Amino acid sequence: MKWPSKRFATASQKGFGMYEQALKLEEQNIDLIHLEFGRPFSDTPLHIKEAAKKALDDGIVHYGDFRGSLHFREALVDKLKNFNNITAGVDEVLVTNGLTHASFSAIFAAIDPGDEVILLEPYYPQHSGKIEMAGGCVVMAPLDVENNFSIRRDLIEEKITPKTRMIVLINPANPTGRIYSKAELQIIADLAIEYDLLVLSDEVYEYITYDDGRHISIATLPGMRERTITCFAFTKAYSMDGWRIGYLTADRSLIPAIMAVIMNDVTHVNVFVQEGAHAAVTGSQECLREMLAVDKRKRDTVVEALNGMKGVTCHMPESTIYAFPNITATGKQSTDLALEILHKAHVVVESGNFYGDLGEGYLRVCFGSESEERIREAMMRLTKFFNSP
Ligand SMILES: Cc1ncc(COP(=O)(O)O)c(C=O)c1O
Repeated sequence: MKWPSKRFATASQKGFGMYEQALKLEEQNIDLIHLEFGRPFSDTPLHIKEAAKKALDDGIVHYGDFRGSLHFREALVDKLKNFNNITAGVDEVLVTNGLTHASFSAIFAAIDPGDEVILLEPYYPQHSGKIEMAGGCVVMAPLDVENNFSIRRDLIEEKITPKTRMIVLINPANPTGRIYSKAELQIIADLAIEYDLLVLSDEVYEYITYDDGRHISIATLPGMRERTITCFAFTKAYSMDGWRIGYLTADRSLIPAIMAVIMNDVTHVNVFVQEGAHAAVTGSQECLREMLAVDKRKRDTVVEALNGMKGVTCHMPESTIYAFPNITATGKQSTDLALEILHKAHVVVESGNFYGDLGEGYLRVCFGSESEERIREAMMRLTKFFNSP
């Protein structure tokens, strides 16, 4: 028997990184502080839960629209206009199971076997497996490491070939915490237009920005709406990671193929989950402001502490829930150091090279996933680890 399909067998499976190593220690009841998961700490706000519960009580339990419930998509159209400055028709929005499913559907709709897709490195590992499963080839284009992981035209242009079909952009960026400037986005836009490429823009961190930082959706740049698939999710901003709810918007010419993937894959997203997300997008945004204020305090605590550790330097992330400290001055490899930290300090951080070779020399430290108290405790453990003679 031939099993599994060639598509599956050749797709890279990144696994769970340091978490797998941490599990072995957890089995010994060691108190680990988890700074490797990219998940929000707080519970889903009550009004969102209540809306989903009410939907169940009201009998919203049957098949719905493949594209997502109409009133929900109408609310998303308003949000896209007011927050992202994207003008979309209600037929240009598709509801998905989180951002993962939005990007999966878009990639499966866009990629023919042999097509090349450019990821900017360091990259988010989950984007590569689905490209390969769709028969595409992942091509890494480096970000400009020397300039705080900025976008540089020549570094991307030299990776473009006649087979290139798409560039995947994460803005704001995981793992670097960058918000790309308009000039940086214009580089991607110019390349996409010049070489007739699609852009998949992952904007899962759109709301998690600090110090008046605001990201720009690349779809709003001239000529980009018709070639950009912009993906969003409720995951991070509303602490809804386990709910699995997101959406995408694209020009109506791109929608039928993406919808065909969604229909064949999940039929449509759970209807009562959509009611919870509807409450999130239409209700008070106070929950988001509160979470951001806490995340900002945690970010400041973490970055200040990291910069006080021997051999560690860390830029202030403008967005996301990640610090990406440089550890090259320790003289250690990222994975060795992350393992040493795990075993000696009992703090779980991700090795930078989990995000590609360019991440070597870095660690990714998530400050979003634990309480403020536990974050302070983690920083004390790490300071002791790095600064002890
Ligand atoms: C850049 C990026 N895209 C997508 C996701 C996954 O989002 P979702 O849980 O909505 O599928 C994450 C989660 O960490 C992420 O960092």
